[in-house]
Amino acid sequence: MNKDYSHLFLIDPGFTALNHGSFGSCPAEIINYQFELVKKMESLTTRFFTRIVKDLNAGSMEVLSRFVNAPSADMIFIRNATTAANAAINSISFEKGDEIVTTNLIYGSCRNALDHAAKTRGAVIKKAEIPFPVQSENEIAELIMGLVTKRTKLIFIDHVTSETAMILPVKRICDEANRLGIDVFIDGAHAPGMLPLDISVLNPAYYTGNCHKWICAPKGTAFLYVRPDRQESVIPPIISNYFCQGETSNARFHNSFDWSGTMDYTNYACVGKTIEHLENKVPGGWNHIMKRNRELAITGRNIITKELHLDQYLPDELIGSMATVKLNSTAVIDPKTGIDLIQLELLDKYSIETVITTLYPTKQRILRISAALYNNETDYEKLAEALRKISF
Ligand SMILES: Cc1ncc(COP(=O)(O)O)c(C=O)c1O
Repeated sequence: MNKDYSHLFLIDPGFTALNHGSFGSCPAEIINYQFELVKKMESLTTRFFTRIVKDLNAGSMEVLSRFVNAPSADMIFIRNATTAANAAINSISFEKGDEIVTTNLIYGSCRNALDHAAKTRGAVIKKAEIPFPVQSENEIAELIMGLVTKRTKLIFIDHVTSETAMILPVKRICDEANRLGIDVFIDGAHAPGMLPLDISVLNPAYYTGNCHKWICAPKGTAFLYVRPDRQESVIPPIISNYFCQGETSNARFHNSFDWSGTMDYTNYACVGKTIEHLENKVPGGWNHIMKRNRELAITGRNIITKELHLDQYLPDELIGSMATVKLNSTAVIDPKTGIDLIQLELLDKYSIETVITTLYPTKQRILRISAALYNNETDYEKLAEALRKISF
């Protein structure tokens, strides 16, 4: 039996939590640390905002920058991947007929942001249709790069897709795009803490990653990396006091993004602490965490597919800490909550939190399971048993 680390987390023991991928969960010790910072913020007020939190956030960013291997100077903290994607997309000057290559698996908010750019600025979106299940990295890379033309201005791809939890071949795509002089935006919402990440080796124009998912940092923590040659043009989602101030493009990039008005910045200060906390609490540190969670996701998927006689899923090399299985039915959505009826039944009748996604734009049901530090094999056995009793 895989050792679980649920004692580190605040997860409700009355529920089987198999949806870490959507919202993450932060260790208790980090939430306590953040609460102490919030108390400091309210007692020291000006000193806290003008000095203390800036220093804490700079230290936190140093730890994160080592974790994802990108220079801290080229990264800023931002609330979430959605905001980062919007900032980059809205900053790019698309001309009529410029093409954006993406996939059918792009996350909904990013799809909307790209569609908006297309509608308002005349860009043309070309979507690679990646089947589920897909056979190999090669097949994915060829489908995406096969859409590139002389008019391609941007390739926008996920590192790990949301609905199908599929790892895309971002290295190969960045290498080929860089050779052709095409910018790549990587939406790595799920990647940091799930996969070993080396942004310097990937060398995309833009990379965003959430820290509140697989790093397990407090909510509202993400980063945006922008390659130095694109920093001058990237505009923050909120234009604030220090917008575009500074002598260099890097200083302007930081001044534009680092202060977006008075708000609670203590979550950013917790990112580095969370990385160090889990590195120290789990023997073998992050290398072990990523390996353990991935193996558990595969084990969990195997338990479910065997019990339910399902055979439509991804090859192991394309999955990280989440796994997906195609169910033999289409979604039936509860009109009140907007949630699939199976997902609701699992929650209300069996106290199991997981997610039934659909393969956009079809309504084909996909079961997505997550494997986090607080999970072990019995969680997937419970899910398999519950699914056996539900008709779908
Ligand atoms: C691929 C992908 N991109 C973006 C997001 C959005 O993340 P956030 O809600 O933190 O902005 C998600 C969320 O699950 C995602 O899976």
